Amino acid sequence: MMVTRVFSGIQPTGTLHIGNYFGAVRNWAVMQNDVDCIICIVDYHSITADVDPKTLRQASLDMAIDLIASGIDPEKTILFVQSDVPQHTELCWILGCVTSFGDLSRMTQFKDKSSKEAFVSSGLFTYPVLQAADILLYLADGVPIGEDQVQHLELSRRVARRFNSRFGEMFPEPEPVVGKKGARIMSLSDPTAKMSKSAGESHYVGVMEPENSIRKKVRSAVTDMGPEAGDAMSPGISNLFEILELSTEATGKTGLVEELRSEFAGGALMYSKLKDTVFEQLMEVLRPIQQRRAELEASGDVIDMLRSGADKARAIATKTMAQVRSLVGLGTDSD
Ligand code: TYM
Repeated sequence: MMVTRVFSGIQPTGTLHIGNYFGAVRNWAVMQNDVDCIICIVDYHSITADVDPKTLRQASLDMAIDLIASGIDPEKTILFVQSDVPQHTELCWILGCVTSFGDLSRMTQFKDKSSKEAFVSSGLFTYPVLQAADILLYLADGVPIGEDQVQHLELSRRVARRFNSRFGEMFPEPEPVVGKKGARIMSLSDPTAKMSKSAGESHYVGVMEPENSIRKKVRSAVTDMGPEAGDAMSPGISNLFEILELSTEATGKTGLVEELRSEFAGGALMYSKLKDTVFEQLMEVLRPIQQRRAELEASGDVIDMLRSGADKARAIATKTMAQVRSLVGLGTDSD
């Protein structure tokens, strides 16, 4: 399917890590050249966890700087902070009324997160409805995401269908757009779990992390005892190869992957060599991003970029909501 308008979101809390970058952000930067692209820093979603109000605004701003440094161009992409467009929450309420409790109860992310919390808010439970509202508010037909968000996307599609059949044709059913590579980068210290910011420092590599610290983390990545000829790859080694493939795709040194793969197949690969190569190639990708970040931070322009992004987003959102309110029969305005 050809998509014409894509929407995606990222939570502002926590560090932007290479899972986010390879799974989502770098795809956004490519897509913005071909289709309408709307990228949202989802602060309403973040407050489903216990975030400190004193740091949330700064976190949203920092995430915007990270994204622009990573290649999102606010001239091409509508980049904004979710709560600057309160229509997200209005649509969320309406969509909540066409979302089944049973469907929400099946969301694995909710089961996962709620099992770790003493206090489980209803916001955490209805989180996927807000995600559906984010996407449908802009009538987006494509959603570039990593694999962990696919179940939420299926729910968004069901919600769109149910709204359309109850109130009339309004929303396209958004398609997940998942990259062939990078859709599921694993944790360095537990390669059977996805890389995430919540698991702890040793699990992820931050896009903006100092070089020394990245070297240490890559060097201590969990592997296995060393290959023997004909062995299958362990999850840790296969994750390192994936990071290497993604990095060399950007640096142009894809030959390195072939070379190391054939050493692995012959049982002769030194893992220290693999790790050093991963580190070097990854740094070639991250170094220019880190440099751009430093320049952007010094310029202080980002807040204005976000305000102008929110103005553009609000214009679309207002139009959608007028149609939705009329279809549902809400309010006193007759149009
Ligand atoms: P978030 O903030 O957890 O992650 C942002 C994006 O990064 C991807 N990602 C990964 N990709 C590959 N490997 C990994 N280890 C990895 N970890 C994260 C995610 O799949 C995501 O694409 N609920 C969403 C935010 C959201 C959203 C939306 C997304 C809110 N509304 C509407 C799309 C459309 C989330 O928490 O992403």
